[in-house]
Amino acid sequence: MFVVVGVSGGIAAYKTVHVIRALVTNGHEVHVVPTDDALRFVGTATWEAISRNPVTTSVHDDVAEVRHVALGTKADLVIVAPATANTLAKMAAGIADNLLGVTLLATTAPVVVAPAMHTAMWEHAATQANIETLRARGVHVVGPADGELTGGDSGPGRMVEPDEIVAAALAVSGAPEQDLAGLSVVVSAGGTREPIDPVRYLGNRSSGRQGVAVALAAAERGAWVHLVAAHVDDGVLARVLPHPSIGVERAGTAAELDAAMRAAAAEADVVVMAAAVADFSVPEVSDVKLRKEDGVVTLDLVENPDILKGLVAERRPGQTIVGFAAETAADDAELRERGIRKRARKGVDLLTVNRVGWTQGFESTDNTVLFVDATDEVVAEAAGSKRAVADALWDAVLRLR
Ligand SMILES: Cc1cc2nc3c(=O)[nH]c(=O)nc-3n(C[C@H](O)[C@H](O)[C@H](O)COP(=O)(O)O)c2cc1C
Repeated sequence: MFVVVGVSGGIAAYKTVHVIRALVTNGHEVHVVPTDDALRFVGTATWEAISRNPVTTSVHDDVAEVRHVALGTKADLVIVAPATANTLAKMAAGIADNLLGVTLLATTAPVVVAPAMHTAMWEHAATQANIETLRARGVHVVGPADGELTGGDSGPGRMVEPDEIVAAALAVSGAPEQDLAGLSVVVSAGGTREPIDPVRYLGNRSSGRQGVAVALAAAERGAWVHLVAAHVDDGVLARVLPHPSIGVERAGTAAELDAAMRAAAAEADVVVMAAAVADFSVPEVSDVKLRKEDGVVTLDLVENPDILKGLVAERRPGQTIVGFAAETAADDAELRERGIRKRARKGVDLLTVNRVGWTQGFESTDNTVLFVDATDEVVAEAAGSKRAVADALWDAVLRLR
């Protein structure tokens, strides 16, 4: 999300540094718009370093980019923290004599304000009337809390804590709940390629979209993600990376994927094997290109190690392991039966079963799956975008954990 954080001139401005850090860590693009007075409390260098974006207070900077409206129109969410009595009054009156005021008028995004001021200022009829006006316009007001204030007084007027501001802001923006926060997950994606000679390989039609969607959903719901990417289609990774909560490791062959997954799984709370792994490989890869002149080629194939079974055998205590099974089946009943049998064979906690065919599953943006757990029941079904399927997977994992 593109988030604008307005900062006005109160002592609590130092706490807003933590709001910005949390948003950046969760992968959001943050632009800070301080008032001139805010810069007397916390300086430009801090805002720029923490948001990783340039900071200006004036409508006259970067005029060629029409910055005074660009920030507001690009924003998916605007937070004002701390919101001083002065800035709240200006918002209520629609005054636009600084970049923050203009941005607030130019935006149609949800606006969240976190007031902070002395109790007397907060309780003043003018401030209360301004708050009512803003609420009536759909502005979300978080706090203030009741507590110790600067100068030794105590009462309502203290800015709520940064975590609370972030949670409230993400809730109104429609961003996902951070229900995977604190979890470390490893996800594999894409299809392996088993070399035959320097120019040819045995591959499969996996685009990597589903696995990458699983990784991105986890990261956006608060997890740390180690993504082991086999071959993925052009642009699939580029759409989601770089992401501050996703680390990517490449693995070309089944053997490389096996090694990468085992190493990463040793540290993970949840392992999701979404990659399409070749069951067979060519034991003797030719160093030179096989040529027609040399006659018909017969390839002897050997079976690759079963990565999922290996991960289950080496599972850490408390670790949840999710497998994917792409099956061809005549009907839903056969698909369920195949899924249930495969779940038991692999010993995973959850098996995501999708029906594949010439036009289903692979290379498309949508998917239809069912989830089988260790009770041999279909515990959930999902259909729609690969992101929707990914979210359903994480919902099912959370229910298991
Ligand atoms: C040390 C100090 C602390 C202040 N703290 C607050 C505060 O918490 N809330 C508030 O509304 N005003 C506070 N003010 C007053 C504002 O800084 C002042 O009203 C200013 O004009 C606000 O400008 P702005 O809304 O454009 O940032 C404080 C002033 C000083 C000198």
